[in-house]
Amino acid sequence: MMKTPSICSILFAFLVHFSCSWTVSSHGHDDFLQCLSLKSNDPTSISNIVYTPENTSYLSILNFSIKNLRFASETTPKPLVIITPVHESQIQPVIYCAKENDMQIRVRSGGHDLEGLSYTSEVPFVILDLVNLREINVDVEKKTSWIQAGAQLGELYYRIAEKSRTLGFPGGVCPTVGAGGHISGGGYGALIRKYGLAADHVIDARIIDVNGRILDRKSMGEDLFWAIRGGGGSSFAVILAWKLQLVDVPKKVTVFTIVRTLEQNATNIVHRWQYIAHKFDEDLAVRIFIRRVNSSHDGKRTIQVSFQTLFLGDVDRLLPLMQQSFPELGLQREDCTEMSWIESTLYIYDLPVGSLDVLLNRTQANIRHFKTKADYVQKQISKNGLEGLWKRFFEEEAEEAEMLFVPYGGRMDELSESAIPFPHRAGNLYKINYSVYWDEEEASERYLNWIRRLYNYMTPYVSKFPRAAYINYRDLDIGVNNKRDTSYAQASIWGFKYFKNNFNKLVRVKTKVDPSNFFRNEQSIPPLYSRWTKNGK
Ligand SMILES: Cc1cc2nc3c(=O)[nH]c(=O)nc-3n(C[C@H](O)[C@H](O)[C@H](O)COP(=O)(O)OP(=O)(O)OC[C@H]3O[C@@H](n4cnc5c(N)ncnc54)[C@H](O)[C@@H]3O)c2cc1C
Ligand SMILES: *[C@@H]1O[C@H](CO)[C@@H](O)[C@H](O)[C@H]1NC(C)=O
Ligand SMILES: *[C@@H]1O[C@H](CO)[C@@H](O)[C@H](O)[C@H]1NC(C)=O
Ligand SMILES: *[C@@H]1O[C@H](CO)[C@@H](O)[C@H](O)[C@H]1NC(C)=O
Ligand SMILES: *[C@@H]1O[C@H](CO)[C@@H](O)[C@H](O)[C@H]1NC(C)=O
Ligand SMILES: *[C@@H]1O[C@H](CO)[C@@H](O)[C@H](O)[C@H]1NC(C)=O
Ligand SMILES: *[C@@H]1O[C@H](CO)[C@@H](O)[C@H](O)[C@H]1NC(C)=O
Repeated sequence: MMKTPSICSILFAFLVHFSCSWTVSSHGHDDFLQCLSLKSNDPTSISNIVYTPENTSYLSILNFSIKNLRFASETTPKPLVIITPVHESQIQPVIYCAKENDMQIRVRSGGHDLEGLSYTSEVPFVILDLVNLREINVDVEKKTSWIQAGAQLGELYYRIAEKSRTLGFPGGVCPTVGAGGHISGGGYGALIRKYGLAADHVIDARIIDVNGRILDRKSMGEDLFWAIRGGGGSSFAVILAWKLQLVDVPKKVTVFTIVRTLEQNATNIVHRWQYIAHKFDEDLAVRIFIRRVNSSHDGKRTIQVSFQTLFLGDVDRLLPLMQQSFPELGLQREDCTEMSWIESTLYIYDLPVGSLDVLLNRTQANIRHFKTKADYVQKQISKNGLEGLWKRFFEEEAEEAEMLFVPYGGRMDELSESAIPFPHRAGNLYKINYSVYWDEEEASERYLNWIRRLYNYMTPYVSKFPRAAYINYRDLDIGVNNKRDTSYAQASIWGFKYFKNNFNKLVRVKTKVDPSNFFRNEQSIPPLYSRWTKNGK
């Protein structure tokens, strides 16, 4: 599917082979647009994929991949230009012309960035929107798949299942998440205990580097190939496509969700879960989903804990395993449902287990204002600690807040911290994702403050030195780059949280492949000597 470089792109590479000391050209997107049509092999086709605010469909194109209303208001800074390439060869002129005109580009695949960095910024910028680059080829024999960056995870799962019901992929649970951002940031889902992260299963990639060259694993070299598998794509290149190693899944998996409220001993069961969930058989992943509800008995507020489980096997094997490992949950045969792995992707995302077509739907239902933060837990939280957490969930702002506890162990314990840039492996019992949702734009500060208070409350109970974070759960609260040059020391503040010591290697790779810091954003990896980027130039 992916084309070999055309004459045009070879010519282009030639053109781009200019020296690093380009002179500062005039500003404005008119020059950028002019440059684009000049450098494109087919200016008519380029004009079909370029949108400025003058185009009537500009706003709908921009909105299409916005997944968080926090970044969809009238005051949200918007791009000067949006480009939606339909061929790889249309990307190279964008990079060339953005460089020529000192414009920042934001690459957008699925648009799920939790801080909106793929489509908003305080600096003038252009969106390179890969929504139309979404081909997926599955090779059942070799158990591999090439997937273009703009494809969404649901499409990948669907295309795999179309060809085989015993192959799967260990990616995220939300079907509309894009392959470009997700896999370059790590990526985990219900198969994490058995198979680790999405990025652990990348065996090749196609990218366009800062010089406009299309590279694969061999031509980019192992360091850059390492960096884009968990270091975040946006610091290094434009990811065009991934080659993935698919994984075996049984014909039948088993799912169940057991719900307990505080009145039903939820605190004790969660407390116990912390000691065992990471040691379960790696076919067994019991996730915990927590929110506040009105009790069905008396209407009083309570905490509801859902033990949502995927087991890679049939119910006959699951029941004795649960009886032996987690009797406190009291699992019964009638709680369980057997289904195919592909059906379980619907179940885990709380969709009706029916038609698979919803996996192909790029329109996400129920888009809200929300904020997510994350933590890693390395020591069991005391019952007191849990009770204090519930207390926060009884506060007014938490009406629609939720938490997800994802058990680690299994494959996550086997890989080394430096195998890929994502470092949070052995030593973690589970990971927490806290989210709060709301409707009214004006109320945002209140909800943001609530989740920040919650995060402060959790400080003594979670990973320390550094308090770990996950780049795919991007959180600008933990630190941002300057608009001008950012020092290594400053970026280290958030860099070590996301990457631990891998941050140092990411900086080295960045310095080598993008010394002028063209690929940058509010939380990109800085090069060591960014003398080319004075005042953003
Ligand atoms: C509702 C929801 C559910 C989620 N569920 C999960 C989950 O189950 N597991 C999990 O691990 N994460 C999950 N996430 C987080 C998700 O993995 C990250 O937000 C991820 O980065 C999104 O990728 P994207 O392509 O959709 O986003 P985008 O916003 O398009 O991109 C995210 C970042 O990557 C950069 N980028 C995107 N494409 C490219 C590219 N082709 N080349 C270079 N850089 C690129 C962007 O510039 C941006 O910085 C979820 C997020 C949301 C909003
Ligand atoms: C946007 O408007 C310009 C100027 O009118 C036009 O040339 C271009 O084709 C339009 N873009 C799209 C995608 O229609
Ligand atoms: C985009 O979303 C914003 C916020 O939801 C809304 O105000 C605007 O009308 C939308 N624009 C389009 C074209 O859908
Ligand atoms: C509550 O859970 C704890 C720990 O799992 C268990 O020891 C206790 O017996 C349970 N109590 C009830 C009433 O079920
Ligand atoms: C829960 O109860 C409160 C007041 O008793 C009510 O305002 C709220 O809407 C209820 N929430 C749900 C989800 O039913
Ligand atoms: C896709 O999902 C959205 C949101 O749930 C829904 O409104 C729309 O009808 C769906 N489209 C199709 C083709 O099913
Ligand atoms: C975090 O967990 C919630 C469930 O509490 C889930 O709905 C949401 O998609 C998750 N967020 C991310 C960014 O993974």
